[in-house]
Amino acid sequence: MECFVCFPGSPVVVVCRAVIEDPFANLFWLANKSFVEKDNDKLPVFYNSSKERGHEEASLVIKQVSEEHLNSNYTCKLQSPSGVVHVSITLKQKRPAPFPILVFGVVGVFVVTAVVVTVVYVQLKVDIVLFLRDDLGLHRHNASDGKCYNAYVLCCKSDTGSGVSEEDRHKIEAVLEEEYGYSLCLFDRDILPGEAVSEAVLASIEKSRRLILVSSGSALNPGQDSQYSLLTGLHAALVEWHTPLVLVQAEVRSDLDSVPEAQQKLVQSGHKVTWKGSNSEPLSSAFWKELRYHMPARPVYLLP
Ligand SMILES: *[C@@H]1O[C@H](CO)[C@@H](O)[C@H](O)[C@H]1NC(C)=O
Ligand SMILES: *[C@@H]1O[C@H](CO)[C@@H](O)[C@H](O)[C@H]1NC(C)=O
Ligand SMILES: *[C@@H]1O[C@H](CO)[C@@H](O)[C@H](O)[C@H]1NC(C)=O
Repeated sequence: MECFVCFPGSPVVVVCRAVIEDPFANLFWLANKSFVEKDNDKLPVFYNSSKERGHEEASLVIKQVSEEHLNSNYTCKLQSPSGVVHVSITLKQKRPAPFPILVFGVVGVFVVTAVVVTVVYVQLKVDIVLFLRDDLGLHRHNASDGKCYNAYVLCCKSDTGSGVSEEDRHKIEAVLEEEYGYSLCLFDRDILPGEAVSEAVLASIEKSRRLILVSSGSALNPGQDSQYSLLTGLHAALVEWHTPLVLVQAEVRSDLDSVPEAQQKLVQSGHKVTWKGSNSEPLSSAFWKELRYHMPARPVYLLP
């Protein structure tokens, strides 16, 4: 029994060659145990033969190799008065060419790389953005956008009394200005007394690239209390001015839920950053990373 290697779907010709001395000898092919037809090229399997100078050749022709042919025994038989000789073969499927393996390999490597890059990017998105934007300075905000401040810091009172303390708020403001070089507009410092409060605050917010809303636990001083009434309708103004809102809230979740209805929409439209007290104080904490991520690009003059 011999194996004859082939590709499924392609034609196969198996030549059986015999030395014939007896003129009554007969050379033919069997499939399993039944005869294969001779010279009938309309059949999927047939054989033809030729004779010359003491040799005879019988060629088994399979036009298209299929599963059935792979499971069959083909026997070439020489019958003569002096005896019977035969040889059997089976067809064996050749392994697919290496080409598709190579293609699958390359595609596989590509897909795996893409997945890894995506996962890494999602995990480290904030770090990557901060690095490219602030450390390498690849992105700058448009200096001629008509804004004078990077952010306006507005306090909003939380009803549960669990907001960010005034002391912590001053810390946050100081770090943003001194460590990161942002210019902030602060009510106590930058809004001149005597101005009509609402108009002055609104005008300053319009001149700021971000609005930082700090939810505050303690009672606000009178001036800030009047800012509070501004919150109604501010959402629409921010949309119009394309000013993103960043909400700095204290750790307690209910802080948000207790926000008055007028503020709800505003608060929901913002990016929330949670101040976790002393855990958030180190500059390496997640709080600063997140807050900087939502701030505009770091100002140019700070860069080496
Ligand atoms: C094919 O040949 C093998 C080995 O001689 C045998 O075991 C098997 O039964 C044969 N199959 C058929 C269908 O004749
Ligand atoms: C047998 O048939 C095959 C396929 O049609 C052909 O290529 C071959 O030349 C034929 N051989 C003989 C001896 O007729
Ligand atoms: C030969 O026998 C095998 C196994 O029994 C079968 O799968 C195959 O179809 C047979 N081939 C032919 C040409 O009859």
